[in-house]
Amino acid sequence: MKSHVTRIGLGLAALGRPEYINIREHADVDKAEKSYRLRAMDLLEFGYLRGIRDFDTAASYGKGEQFLKEWYQDTRYPDVRLSSKWGYTYKANWEIGYNGPHEVKEHSLSKLQEQWSGAKELLPGLKIYQIHSATFESGVLENKEVLDELLRIKKTFGIQIGLSVSGANQKEVISAASKVAVGGEELFESFQVTYNILDESTHEVLRKLLEKGKVVIIKEALANGRLLRNSNYPQYESLYKQLDEIASDHGVGPDAIALRYVMDRLQANLVLSGASTRKQLDSNLKALSIELSEEEITSLKGFHIQPEIYWPERKQLSWN
Ligand SMILES: NC(=O)c1ccc[n+]([C@@H]2O[C@H](COP(=O)([O-])OP(=O)(O)OC[C@H]3O[C@@H](n4cnc5c(N)ncnc54)[C@H](OP(=O)(O)O)[C@@H]3O)[C@@H](O)[C@H]2O)c1
Repeated sequence: MKSHVTRIGLGLAALGRPEYINIREHADVDKAEKSYRLRAMDLLEFGYLRGIRDFDTAASYGKGEQFLKEWYQDTRYPDVRLSSKWGYTYKANWEIGYNGPHEVKEHSLSKLQEQWSGAKELLPGLKIYQIHSATFESGVLENKEVLDELLRIKKTFGIQIGLSVSGANQKEVISAASKVAVGGEELFESFQVTYNILDESTHEVLRKLLEKGKVVIIKEALANGRLLRNSNYPQYESLYKQLDEIASDHGVGPDAIALRYVMDRLQANLVLSGASTRKQLDSNLKALSIELSEEEITSLKGFHIQPEIYWPERKQLSWN
């Protein structure tokens, strides 16, 4: 029997702006904003018709929040669960080859208030509002005025407050965040975390959160595409072979196996697909129709690497 503890959601990181950390060549992609808007609308609707109900965006995903808003306001599907994030500002302004940081972090009260005023237009579909890439350095987990404002949003609008994390110390940031209390109650109910075959260093802390009833959302389950055969990563050739072998046994693509690995191993609430085409999304969704054996899971488990190796490689991905 196939277990479906984990749902697949769609993330809009690659859908709302012309350049993202893509590792493949996309020479044939029309980078005009108009084309991106059409593609986003098409993929959102395609995903919904295929059963996806969870959609994740952020203020800094170029037009990602705006596109999601337009689609939602147009369709008014009553059963969608939308999530967004605040804390980064998109700077590239749709300029192809933009020569600076595409997103700039600012975890201040004024940034929260500014970006919340846009995100709240996603209500009542908006169910989770997240700090985008919380870190110790930004001080956000100790910023009383920000935490108070998040509690106010939670109480006033009846939504969950969450955070996303990235980097070699995800585990430590999640642990610290799970203890943050405001007004006598734990503030964070939802945790968006990178977890995949190469980096599962957060496994234990996430299992504990799940046991406590917290929401766990997995991002970058395909390691931004690095889990799919790519000649720039010869060090993963034996992993590619293993994924291909299991994929061929199940009659699906290696992407579905990598996603299913996360689903079966962690049993989180949600894993986000970062697909940017119908073909990719269709292939990703095949993860829902299979289940991996213990033996298959064990054969993939051995490929994890240390976060101190994983994250510098992730940092080197260029925006294109
Ligand atoms: N800090 C944060 O809060 C944060 C950070 C990252 C992501 N996220 C969230 O997580 C979502 C997913 O993350 P992600 O897109 O970065 O990572 P991902 O799911 O690990 O990787 C997605 C990439 O994998 C490739 N891919 C997927 N399916 C494929 C297929 N069938 N065949 C070939 N290639 C395939 C695509 O690369 P190409 O398009 O290059 O071919 C795609 O862009 C985002 O949309 C966002 O909502 C949040």
